[in-house]
Amino acid sequence: MEKHHIEVMLTEEVVNARIKELGEQISRDYAGKSIHLICILKGSVYFTCELAKRITIPVTMDFMQCSSYGAETKSSGIVKLAKDLDEPIMDREVLIIEDIIDSGRTLSHLKDLLGQRKPASLRLCTLLDKPDRRVAEVNVEYVGFQIEDKFVVGYGLDYDQKYRNLPYIGVVEFDS
Ligand code: IMP
Ligand code: MG
Repeated sequence: MEKHHIEVMLTEEVVNARIKELGEQISRDYAGKSIHLICILKGSVYFTCELAKRITIPVTMDFMQCSSYGAETKSSGIVKLAKDLDEPIMDREVLIIEDIIDSGRTLSHLKDLLGQRKPASLRLCTLLDKPDRRVAEVNVEYVGFQIEDKFVVGYGLDYDQKYRNLPYIGVVEFDS
């Protein structure tokens, strides 16, 4: 691992306050219904749990994981499932929870895939969005923060599997 350090981009207080707002907004938007959260492993685990605690309508959850692949495969835009959902989503109000949307490839693929299973509704919620990096068109209904094109860690996001447990969002700065 290259020598680096982490600089705080969004403090724990700022992130938690925004998640609380998102939870309130989602609870209002889905009032009278129950919502089925789909957590995209592993990065979204922290955000999904914090968000779920702030939602006041009935919540159920399921988990899905996309397989990791090398840089070469990534540029081809192929996304494979390492773990599918445990339950059907037909006729349910489905909200996909993602940690960050970068190129948008993962999410545009997942949205197509889950859309074929005929949910009552299908929306997307991401903690972070890097709009400058978008390659694949994807409609995102709930965004925590739009950030510039920097490599970030914490709150579930990793650098080589490290730093997921940081309670804030930090930028990886490489020491030259
Ligand atoms: P994409 O939107 O298909 O390009 O992929 C998004 C995925 O790339 C996320 O779920 C993360 O796993 C990873 N990713 C993108 N940007 C970052 C970052 O800044 N830090 C850590 N992981 C990232
Ligand atoms: Mg991820």
